[in-house]
Amino acid sequence: MKIKLIGVIAGFYIVNALIAFCAEPALKDVFKDTFLIGAALNPWQFSGNTNAEGQIILKHFNTITPENSLKWGNLHPYPGQYVFSQADRFVEFGVKHKMVIIGHTLIWYAQTPRWVFQDNDGKPLTREAVLERMREHIHTVVGRYKGKIRGWDVVNEALNENGTLRNSQWLKSIGEDYIVKAFQFAQESDPEAELYYNDYGLEYEPKRKGAVEIVKKLQSAGVKISGVGLQGHYDINRPSAKQIDETIETFSKLGVKVMITELDVNVLPTSGPGGADVTMRFRADPKLNPYTNGLPKDVEERLARRYAELFGVFLKHKQTVTRVTFWGVSDRSSWLNNFPIRGRTNYPLLFDRNCQPKPAFYAVVDIVHQIPE
Ligand code: GLA
Repeated sequence: MKIKLIGVIAGFYIVNALIAFCAEPALKDVFKDTFLIGAALNPWQFSGNTNAEGQIILKHFNTITPENSLKWGNLHPYPGQYVFSQADRFVEFGVKHKMVIIGHTLIWYAQTPRWVFQDNDGKPLTREAVLERMREHIHTVVGRYKGKIRGWDVVNEALNENGTLRNSQWLKSIGEDYIVKAFQFAQESDPEAELYYNDYGLEYEPKRKGAVEIVKKLQSAGVKISGVGLQGHYDINRPSAKQIDETIETFSKLGVKVMITELDVNVLPTSGPGGADVTMRFRADPKLNPYTNGLPKDVEERLARRYAELFGVFLKHKQTVTRVTFWGVSDRSSWLNNFPIRGRTNYPLLFDRNCQPKPAFYAVVDIVHQIPE
C-alpha cells in the first residue's frame, strides 16, 4: 500500500515536471527573429544528454561555446602534441544537433602553457619563433574545424582596465602587432569563419577605447574582424543599461557586430573591483555567501528585473547583436559558485539548481513582447 502511494506521488511529480517543461517556451524560438541564443558547455554536458542540463541545452539553445575544451592548455599541452578528443566531441555534439558552434579561444594570456614562449632550456624564444608557434597552432586548430566552427574568439582579454594593452607574455614576446598577426593567421586558416575580439569590462569607457583601437588597427591593416564579444559577466546593478547601450552603439558605428559571449549576473556581495579578471581570488567569508539556503524573494525579483533590463538593451540593438551566450547552463554548475571566492552559492543564470526556469527566465521571455518591432 505504502509503495503504491509513493508510486502515485512520484508519478504526480513527474507528470507535473513534464507539463511544466513542455509549457515553457524554448528560448531559441522566442529569439528566433533577433539573435542566436546559447550556452558555454563543459565536457560533462556535451558528452551525454541524459541529465537535466542536457535537456535544457537541446531545448533552449541553438549555439554553443566550449568552456575550456578549445583553450591552448587543453588542446596543445606540450610542444608538438595536440589532444583533440574532447574538442572533437564538442564539435560533433554541435554538428549533430545543428547548432552554431563557436571557438573559444585561440590567443589568451591565461590557460596557455609556459613552453609556448620558451626554448628547450627555458630561455625566452625570439619574436619570430613565438610567431611561428602562434601560426602553427592557429592553422592546426582552425584548420581542423574549418566549415564546422562558425566563429572564433581569436584574441581574448588583451586589455587592461585603463585601455592599454595587458603586459601578457604574447605582448612581451611578439610586440603590439601580435593581435593583428593572430587575426591574420585565423583568416588564412578559414577565410569563411567569423573572427572576434572578446573581453570583459568594455562597458567602461577607458577599456572600451582600447577595444576601439584594436578594431581600427585590424581594419586599417585590411585584416578581417567580424565582431566584438562583450563577455557580459555582469553584477546585479553594474554596469548600467546606459553603459551597455553606448558600448554596443560604439562598435556598431565601427561596422562590426556585437555578441554577448559569456553572460551571467552575480548576485553575491563582491570583494574587489568586480568584473571577470580570472586572476582575482579572495578569502571565503560567510558574510560574502549569504544565500546558502536559497535566494530571498526580493533578490530573485531584482535578478529578474536586471535580466529584463539587459535583454531590453540587446533587443534594442538587434541589428548589431547577433548572439547571446550564457556562461553555463544552470546555477548548479556556474563558475560563479567558485569565483572569485571558492565554495559559494550563487544564482547567476536563468535555470536554478534543479534545472527549473527561474523568474528571470520568464522576465526574459516577456521582454520580447514589450519591445516594439
Ligand atoms: C573568462 C574567459 C572564459 C572563462 C571565464 C571564467 O571570461 O574568457 O573562457 O575562463 O573567464 O570561467
